[in-house]
Amino acid sequence: MSANDAAPDTHAEPLAALFGPHFTALCERTAAALETCGFEALLVHSGSLLPVFQDDRTYPFEANAPFKVWTPLADVPDCFVHFRPGRRPQLLFHRPTDYWYKPAPLPQDYWTAHFEILPCADLAAARAALPRSLARTAYLGEDFGGLTDWAVGAVNPPRLIRHLDFTRARKSAYELACLREANRLGARGHRAAAQAFAGGGSEFEIELAFLAACGQREQELPYNPIIALNENGAVLHYQVLEKHPPQMRRSLLIDAGAEFGGYASDITRTYAAAEGDFADLIQRMDGLQQSLCAHVRAGVDWREIHLLAHRLAAELLRDADLVSCGAEEAIASGVTRVFLPHGIGHLLGLEVHDAGGFMRSPDGGDIERPEGHPYLRLTRTLEPGFVVTMEPGIYFIEPLLAAAQSDSRARLIRWPRVEALRPWGGIRIEDDLAVTATGCENLTRDAFALEGTER
Ligand code: GLY
Ligand code: MN
Ligand code: MN
Repeated sequence: MSANDAAPDTHAEPLAALFGPHFTALCERTAAALETCGFEALLVHSGSLLPVFQDDRTYPFEANAPFKVWTPLADVPDCFVHFRPGRRPQLLFHRPTDYWYKPAPLPQDYWTAHFEILPCADLAAARAALPRSLARTAYLGEDFGGLTDWAVGAVNPPRLIRHLDFTRARKSAYELACLREANRLGARGHRAAAQAFAGGGSEFEIELAFLAACGQREQELPYNPIIALNENGAVLHYQVLEKHPPQMRRSLLIDAGAEFGGYASDITRTYAAAEGDFADLIQRMDGLQQSLCAHVRAGVDWREIHLLAHRLAAELLRDADLVSCGAEEAIASGVTRVFLPHGIGHLLGLEVHDAGGFMRSPDGGDIERPEGHPYLRLTRTLEPGFVVTMEPGIYFIEPLLAAAQSDSRARLIRWPRVEALRPWGGIRIEDDLAVTATGCENLTRDAFALEGTER
């Protein structure tokens, strides 16, 4: 959602007060990165419309994250931010003369006073608005047709990108406000989705309820919602939206977030249609997730949280009689990874899987994942202002179970229990956490509480 559309009056004033210091800090850190990397200016493209092959339509547009760092405009192609340290940044705003499509209005909002905004009818007009020589300018974005003629100093220089991405992990007070609002919208969507599930809705109907409650169309969301009934919950990024409800309604796993000011929420809840073993398992997973959240604070190595999650998952699997071995053996044999194959969480911000999760320092290489955990997306030590997801789960995933059944792990798994629970698919509970010096703010639980639901 562009903050233009999204920001009701109640938000404009607090956001205006927060945006100024945020923007000053952004300019300072960008200036420092440019100097370190030997550039005088930065030019960031919002992105190009991507045409559908052999048609005159285009795919849904999403602005590039390095552009959204500067403005909350998430839906405007062919705009540029031009930043030269010490000068007011320019926004070259694409404003074509068009009667097939409605051009976006020139923005006027809580953030616009910080820019010189120049309407540009096309790319040639944008180029004409820029200095004659861009030889010391770093360009970030896609290599659109004609970029070569702009003679920029460098296109997507990796070192500069690393310097910019590294600092993106620490969110400002303004960014935290946007992330809180993205969570509030997401929690509102989740509440409506849970009601649609309770009312017997199909996956598609549950998505429609989510979208309507968030007030966002699918392309405005930070990712396509994962809405999985029954065994579909075992597909981690399930993408089908069945139009008909299943005959037997057992469970819903919904992983869906909203966007505000370009910032994402990433929220998962799992529901059982009736009381029983699966409902009990959801309760236990909720408790496990909360105890992991309690370990989050600045100074903690995220890899330790991930490994702790496997220890707690091993205990849960044993308590639920899904495995027969103790935690040590479940971890060492890889059995916990059969049930929990993904990472415990990731950085969140302008992208749902935000940039910079592995960096030791801007120039200092990457921090390795723990061996045997290829899907962990964050290996850094937490700092105040980091926003991360906490998303433990257990799933009954057909190919992973089949592989375990055919090797030495088979004897550690209680197969009759697995078979009994398989039709429920899986469980994931996911919250967004803002790290502080002493703990974390749970943006998602707070948002559910604001929306009048418990979790
Ligand atoms: N929604 C994708 C994820 O949780 O990482
Ligand atoms: Mn996530
Ligand atoms: Mn998610």
